[in-house]
Amino acid sequence: MNFTPLLPISANVSPQGVLTIANQDLERLAEQYGTPLYLYDAATIHQQVNTLQSLLKQAYPGQSLVAYAAKAYFSEGISRKLAAMGLGIDVVSLGELELALRGGFAPGVLHLHGNNKSEEELAAALEIHAQAIVVDSLDELRLLESLAARRGKNKARIWLRVTPTVQGHTHAHIDTSGANSKFGLHIENGQAAEAIRYARASAWLDLVGLHMHLGSQFFEPEIYSEAVHQLYQLAQSENFQPQEFSPGGGWGVRYTPADPQDAYAPWLEAVCESVIAECARLGWPLPRLILEPGRSLVARAGVAVYRVGAQKTTPSGLRIVAVDGGLADNPRHALYQARYTALAVKQANATNVSQARLVGKFCESGDVLIPAVDLPQVERGDLIAVPVAGAYQLSMTSNYNLAPRPAVLWLDENGVELLQKREVPSESGWWRLPE
Ligand SMILES: Cc1ncc(COP(=O)(O)O)c(C=O)c1O
Repeated sequence: MNFTPLLPISANVSPQGVLTIANQDLERLAEQYGTPLYLYDAATIHQQVNTLQSLLKQAYPGQSLVAYAAKAYFSEGISRKLAAMGLGIDVVSLGELELALRGGFAPGVLHLHGNNKSEEELAAALEIHAQAIVVDSLDELRLLESLAARRGKNKARIWLRVTPTVQGHTHAHIDTSGANSKFGLHIENGQAAEAIRYARASAWLDLVGLHMHLGSQFFEPEIYSEAVHQLYQLAQSENFQPQEFSPGGGWGVRYTPADPQDAYAPWLEAVCESVIAECARLGWPLPRLILEPGRSLVARAGVAVYRVGAQKTTPSGLRIVAVDGGLADNPRHALYQARYTALAVKQANATNVSQARLVGKFCESGDVLIPAVDLPQVERGDLIAVPVAGAYQLSMTSNYNLAPRPAVLWLDENGVELLQKREVPSESGWWRLPE
């Protein structure tokens, strides 16, 4: 199998078949930091960010910004790296907000999402004068208005999250559009229009933009064009000209060679062309366009490294290879049958392979990383690398079975930087980060 398009761009396989990333010996890193171990390749993240930022400048004549969706993976270390790349930031909790500010993101490029934000979260975003609080419901609109009025200081600068009805293809658990979505103000039942009217009439709300996010892991540019059209029809019906417009994130990435091509251009062109066309149709100025990708900026940069433990063959002939991580550091297969590939770090070019089920060490039958993957013969202690591990894995880790969360490393031309230490036991029985 050709792993090149799935591995970080700095990955290399020696003539002996040994995988390195950013010239680092993975065996040495695994010994030093323990396994499971997560690696982020700086070169790949820089490439994704630069590509998207420059394509956006070419395709969109108005003001624009790429904002990173922190939920894909966030820590103080990566917050600092990403802030320095000129990105904006989408946060969904006090924790993400705090790390974004600590990392150096200015409040003016920070927006707060969430379908059920707490009063504390709303108040924090008001306090820092965030670029926008993205209001998700009529209920929240009223709550935010009363909070802003009670504070009596600044108006709440808001976008409305509008839910269009489009039919893209992704797993139901990561599809956020459509009539049953818990997210956003639906167009169909008139709540989005009502929210526009309510916000514009309020003395404490400053409605500056509209937002949509269709879901994640889409490869269909046409659903973005259709959704942009639906939002502009709504805006037209209320004669509301958005100063800012955010079409969300959601562009897909390749997890296996069978997945579609994931170049940014089709997505970006569909979004930019449709916003430009809608504004031309209505005779409105172009809004500031704020993209909000998470997965596509960081997924390919990440590699999860595990050690092989027990192996067996079941009565049905299934070859099982167990590693020392699984569900607790990567619940994506259990949550929505996410697909992956894997390779043996010291046999990265192996052609003599057979099908195996790669499983974790946790007490759940659903603790499967990859149901069927071609692997060479491996032995206890060998390292297995799972590519495209940079998004929605570490951010969804748990301490299930009281497993410690893994260490996370940033690899660049200067060497290795520890983004997150591996957790250690605490007196309460829960794991904590070491001092
Ligand atoms: C509101 C919002 N914006 C952006 C994103 C990022 O999506 P993705 O990582 O697929 O680009 C998400 C992901 O859930 C989201 O909920």
